[in-house]
Amino acid sequence: PRPILLTRHGESMFNLNGRIGGDPELSATGDIYATKLASFVHKRLKSQHSASIWTSTLRRTILTATHITGFPKVQWRALDEIDAGICDGMTYEEIKETMPDEYQSRKLDKLRYRYPRGESYLDVIQRLEPVIVELERQRSPVVVVAHQAILRSLYAYFTDKPLDEIPHIEMPLHTIIEIQMGVAGVQEKRYKLL
Ligand code: F6P
Repeated sequence: PRPILLTRHGESMFNLNGRIGGDPELSATGDIYATKLASFVHKRLKSQHSASIWTSTLRRTILTATHITGFPKVQWRALDEIDAGICDGMTYEEIKETMPDEYQSRKLDKLRYRYPRGESYLDVIQRLEPVIVELERQRSPVVVVAHQAILRSLYAYFTDKPLDEIPHIEMPLHTIIEIQMGVAGVQEKRYKLL
């Protein structure tokens, strides 16, 4: 059976400063992950005739996939990180201080809370539908390099997690989650590269 490899981008300059959203480049550590990810993927998919590499349209995922060669790359806007609207580029601390009501509402219902002029997790889950349809249709392996909220939603779909848990799923950086759909259900392996 064909595997689906899910990974967040390597550490970005925003991750380093605790800022959300934006379109930052990778940190030095993020660059190292990009190199390690490429050797992992080349080794793991060595015997495969075909496979594809999917990223978002944001620099941090495209840069994370740069060293992967030999397979076609596809950029999906639907894989872009949750749009934090007016909070884009802020730290959680800044949101808490300058918009305490917004901070509190999100804390109370992270699944349904929609950032002003941005998105909720429910919005994200909905826009991921075409990506999921296409993932299900693929016959060869796919490497998905995306973002925290996006990968929580994709992972929850394949592992059948309840909606309310999705925003709280642990999705660490520098870790590959390999999912295989077999007759015995879904099998999962994790590889921590950094
Ligand atoms: O902090 C990294 C990040 O990808 C942000 O860009 C995004 O807003 C956030 O994670 C999503 O995670 P949470 O829903 O827990 O705020």
